Amino acid sequence: MDILKIERVKKYFSVRRNLAEFFKPLFIRAVDDVSFDVKAGEFFGLIGESGCGKTTLGKIIVKLIQPDSGKIIFEGKDITFEKLRGEMRRNIQMIFQNPFSSLNPKMKAKDIILEGVMIHKIAPKNMWKDILEELIISCGLSPDLAERYPDELSGGQRQRVAIARAVAVKPKLLVADEPTSSLDVSVRAQILELLEKIRREQRISIIFISHDISTIKAYADRVAVMYLGKIVEIGKKEDVISNPLHPYTRFLLNSVVDFKRVMNEGRYNLLEGDIGEVSYQLSDIRGCNFAPRCPFKQKICEEQPPYVEVDGRKVLCHFAGKI
Ligand SMILES: Nc1ncnc2c1ncn2[C@@H]1O[C@H](COP(=O)(O)OP(=O)(O)OP(=O)(O)O)[C@@H](O)[C@H]1O
Ligand code: SF4
Ligand SMILES: [Mg+2]
Repeated sequence: MDILKIERVKKYFSVRRNLAEFFKPLFIRAVDDVSFDVKAGEFFGLIGESGCGKTTLGKIIVKLIQPDSGKIIFEGKDITFEKLRGEMRRNIQMIFQNPFSSLNPKMKAKDIILEGVMIHKIAPKNMWKDILEELIISCGLSPDLAERYPDELSGGQRQRVAIARAVAVKPKLLVADEPTSSLDVSVRAQILELLEKIRREQRISIIFISHDISTIKAYADRVAVMYLGKIVEIGKKEDVISNPLHPYTRFLLNSVVDFKRVMNEGRYNLLEGDIGEVSYQLSDIRGCNFAPRCPFKQKICEEQPPYVEVDGRKVLCHFAGKI
């Protein structure tokens, strides 16, 4: 059963870089006609380079950003124009990209974790201590860490607090926006394992956003690859990884990554000279938006490609399955 359905969602941001654009702005197509669904209990990977629109899409799903058009359907209910309150707010949680700015610096970890339990009246007051203890243990924290403020915790510990806070309210869908990108490799693996354990035990659906396909290799059921606001390939993880059909997915899998940028900024870019720099998703792009970097492009690529179904996968390319 689908827990979430995203239908033709768009979000453009206006850009005014000079006087002419002040009167006639250009638009960054951050999310450009995106559709997909997430099944109950699924680990869904959303991957793509820096700036392709992953965070914007995540925020649209948790209703922090209103899309310009399209539909968001949660458990069969159209919530596109709903303000999420009460149970609905509880059901859809997000873990943010930067653990250093997403936690209130004035609150102790234990209060951050329990905040949602109190607001949503998940349990009576006499149970809060037990709930806290259980969350602390299951998220790999310790009681002394729960007494600390966020700036007294490491990046990995902060992300554990953020995860504990999110799962405390027993959500049905968790959007995890690059929760591991700013962490050491060993800590990354632990956080991923923790999320997978939570998904298994609580049957939560997880949308795991990452710039790096290898991060989600172990756990994702399906993967969507995003490029400049569009999903260019979506399918079962094994298929996408073993036989990528979109030229961009191939490059993502084979490319040389600028690891210095990943380590310093948590930003994922391919090294220049590989397939060239990301072209900007401004409103004047016509045809396939990967064409400026695509070695397979032909005349027809000046027209917007349709989604082609190949072996249960959807691929946004005129030559899907033929390259
Ligand atoms: N509030 C905003 N106003 C204008 N442009 C924005 C805004 N938010 C995002 N953008 C632009 O939209 C595009 C997508 O941004 P987004 O943060 O969603 O990308 P991302 O895939 O999450 O990147 P990263 O991997 O670096 O986190 C970028 O070009 C970004 O500059
Ligand atoms: S449609 Fe053309 S330019 Fe776009 S990815 Fe396919 S081959 Fe490349
Ligand atoms: Mg982001």
